Amino acid sequence: MCYAIPGKIKSISDTVILVDYFGEEKKAYNDFYDLAVGDYVFAQGGYVVQKVSKKEAEEILSVWKETFFELQEVDLRLSSLDLKSAGIERKTALILDKIAQNSSLSKEEALYLINSENEREIELMLKTANFLRQKYLKNSCCVHGIIEISNRCQNMCSYCGISANNKTLSRYTMTKEEIFEAAKEAVNRHGFKALMLQSGENHGCSVDDLGYVIERIKNELGALVFISFGEIGLKNLEKLYKKGARGLLMRFETSNPEIYRNICSGNELEDRLEHIKNAYEIGYLIATGSLIGIPGQTKEDIINDIYLARDLKAEMFSFGPFLAHPETPLFDIRPVMEKEMLKTLALARFIGGKEVKILITTAFETLSKDARKKGLLSGANSVMINVTPRQYRKLYTLYPKRAHDQEDIVNQINDTVSLLRSIGRAPTDLGAS
Ligand code: 5AD
Repeated sequence: MCYAIPGKIKSISDTVILVDYFGEEKKAYNDFYDLAVGDYVFAQGGYVVQKVSKKEAEEILSVWKETFFELQEVDLRLSSLDLKSAGIERKTALILDKIAQNSSLSKEEALYLINSENEREIELMLKTANFLRQKYLKNSCCVHGIIEISNRCQNMCSYCGISANNKTLSRYTMTKEEIFEAAKEAVNRHGFKALMLQSGENHGCSVDDLGYVIERIKNELGALVFISFGEIGLKNLEKLYKKGARGLLMRFETSNPEIYRNICSGNELEDRLEHIKNAYEIGYLIATGSLIGIPGQTKEDIINDIYLARDLKAEMFSFGPFLAHPETPLFDIRPVMEKEMLKTLALARFIGGKEVKILITTAFETLSKDARKKGLLSGANSVMINVTPRQYRKLYTLYPKRAHDQEDIVNQINDTVSLLRSIGRAPTDLGAS
């Protein structure tokens, strides 16, 4: 199974190469291969991750060629927009019309949209987001694999099921060999080109061990590595970047400093933001976002969250519903409704704009069984598949009854690919433009 289409190098200028994909040209950053014009490569998130032989590339391209254009047609049909304004407020029609013409959205307009409870208006809002996603990013969809390397955590966040306060949970930390084996299976057997390594904070796997694994994944397997180990500090961020990590997933959880202090056991939002900004300065691609539906959060907070993710120059947005865990102080909070999440994704597309990847989170898939399809038709263009060994996956209980916790990886992949095909999306990340 292949999650990337090989591209042919058209030109090389220092460390930036221009790659051709069926007539579309994209730039990719190349930081370690000896490449020449005419070579084929796989790129992810704007980075070259693997060189591919001409023979292999031509085989893959011949399989993809027809499918690729068929999928684009299906996508184009599903994302067409007819802004008929019957049954909606004139103001909503004007705002959506303006967004569809590429104009940016004011905060007041964003608030106006997120507050709408009119079904027809919401439907048009989601369609407009899908229209923009197609217009800006065509039909490519990122499919990343995630390996949850440890459920140990030193923090006591009141929303989180793996908080140090949860004494009922059995804890695990994968060894560096286990992590590499899981990565090898994901890349070599299942074809993933981008992997997220995630854990609680301060989990018992040393930074040196993590560096060792990341270096091997980059050099021996050829995949883009994102890290998500909490606030590991500037020095460790630098260390892991040198070893080959190129992305950081770190949510700021909420843009409201008071709520942050309340739910993150007195920690400061400022420190979290500093960490994300430091990672960006080092060169990491940033994936960030917030929890939707935490106590005290207003609609305005959600809009501020989206603006903050944009201001942090995120390459990927990750907004997901808060789902209460019985062993936490927030055990009795009810989650948001599906339509609130869909509105959030649509607004994320309106505010995040042309380049940003928007993820369908596993939490959203747990909240609603149609989350993937509906989310992908509401501005999102990215999904993750859990490739953690199954015996560990069930212990990574951020919240109960997580979607896909017991599912075989091959089944998850097949389901994902058939869903993507049904809505005209190619399970590919063609790299940053
Ligand atoms: N519900 C939804 N998401 C959660 N996370 C942690 N606990 C929960 C929960 N109960 C999310 C946080 C964290 C990410 C790894 O998981 O946003 O950043």
